Amino acid sequence: MEARPIRLDEAGNLLVPDHVVIPFITGDGIGKDIWPAARTVMDAAVRSVFGDSKSIQWLEVEAGNECFNATGDGLPDASIQTISDHHVAIKGPMSTPVGKGMRSLNVRLRQTLDLFACIRPVAYYPPVPSPVKYPEKTDIVVFRENTEDLYAGIEWDSGEADTRKLIQILNDQFGTSLSHTASLGLKPMTPEGSKRLIASAIAYALENGRKSVTLMHKGNIMKFTEGGFREWGYEVAKEQFPDQVITEQQLWDEFKGEVPAGKVLLKDRIADMIFAEVLIRPEDFEVIASPNLNGDYISDALAAQVGGLGIAPGANVGSECAVFEATHGTAPDIAGQDKANPCSLILSGAMMMDHLGWQEVGDKIRSGVAKALAAGKVTPDLAGQIQGGEAVSCSQFAEILKEAVA
Ligand code: NAI
Repeated sequence: MEARPIRLDEAGNLLVPDHVVIPFITGDGIGKDIWPAARTVMDAAVRSVFGDSKSIQWLEVEAGNECFNATGDGLPDASIQTISDHHVAIKGPMSTPVGKGMRSLNVRLRQTLDLFACIRPVAYYPPVPSPVKYPEKTDIVVFRENTEDLYAGIEWDSGEADTRKLIQILNDQFGTSLSHTASLGLKPMTPEGSKRLIASAIAYALENGRKSVTLMHKGNIMKFTEGGFREWGYEVAKEQFPDQVITEQQLWDEFKGEVPAGKVLLKDRIADMIFAEVLIRPEDFEVIASPNLNGDYISDALAAQVGGLGIAPGANVGSECAVFEATHGTAPDIAGQDKANPCSLILSGAMMMDHLGWQEVGDKIRSGVAKALAAGKVTPDLAGQIQGGEAVSCSQFAEILKEAVA
């Protein structure tokens, strides 16, 4: 049967055909090692769950170093358009060109497609070594705002003419007393940008039976930006989920400390406290919604808590498009040597299956990865750290995973 692209219905829901075309970017560096591995495992999992009744036809999209060398553009508009037209895509890591004025391809992809939520589920896969005593208690999904905050990149360098001009205006007209040598940065955050991110975190929690969403902010210091994020969070909960979201006050006053079925507890915590609490009581956190910079810090800290970035999956999701990707970089030191760990990309593939509505396939991939890791025949990055671990190549590990999902 001919494969077709995903379409959206009028409400913006995905209409996924049984035989679906999904674009992919192989990526640079170890992308060439891990993409074939990920593809093999995803295809095997789909076949195992659906037989011949559903399948994915992969469509390669040009991007990255080779594309830059051939065309002068590492991410041509046509590639972005293909991803936009198909609504869902998956990618390996792409190297960011070094130098002034060179924009990260990843950032360009996120901005052009308005992928406003960076979603990073963090869960423990034994026997991956972890620095904490009970890593299995950490099972948290981070929703990080992707388009605003300090990552909007509005900065002025110390000593530049424009910087001095701006400092002069601020000191003369806005009552500040900034040093004339200061560098400046702007931290724009809007109610609209914050609300759509927080609403998607709440919707995710409700759909996936997660009991709480925690707003992570530094509103005690940055009252109008981070404090705004907190306020807008409670506002959007009232506006869009009036019967499904409860506050901590209601939890104790009305529900004796137990979140009732079908509802989600919305709470907020100061950013620095969260770093302490996720170490001491990780089980108190299920979904964390945060502005961009906080989210950057907490997602990597949580990944380290359960054993590192090598296996942490991720997705960048907008209202019309979602791109699933490995969270690590191109690892140039081991590129092309068939020894990279493909788990991050494979587990991102599992997230993609959930997003397609093919949760059974997503579950199959996650349990296959858990089974293969537990068996101890793993890529060299993990083998040396696991007691009794045996190093196998990336492609051999893919074969083991293929059997584990079959
Ligand atoms: P990196 O993640 O590529 O490498 C850091 C260390 O982790 C290296 O020692 C590497 O060998 C190891 N490592 C990473 N992934 C691994 C895997 N799957 N299996 C085994 N070992 C792995 O970070 P780095 O070196 O800072 O960045 C290299 C390039 O990647 C840069 O050009 C950067 O811009 C790009 N990058 C791209 C990202 C993306 O496409 N989403 C994300 C992060 C970095």
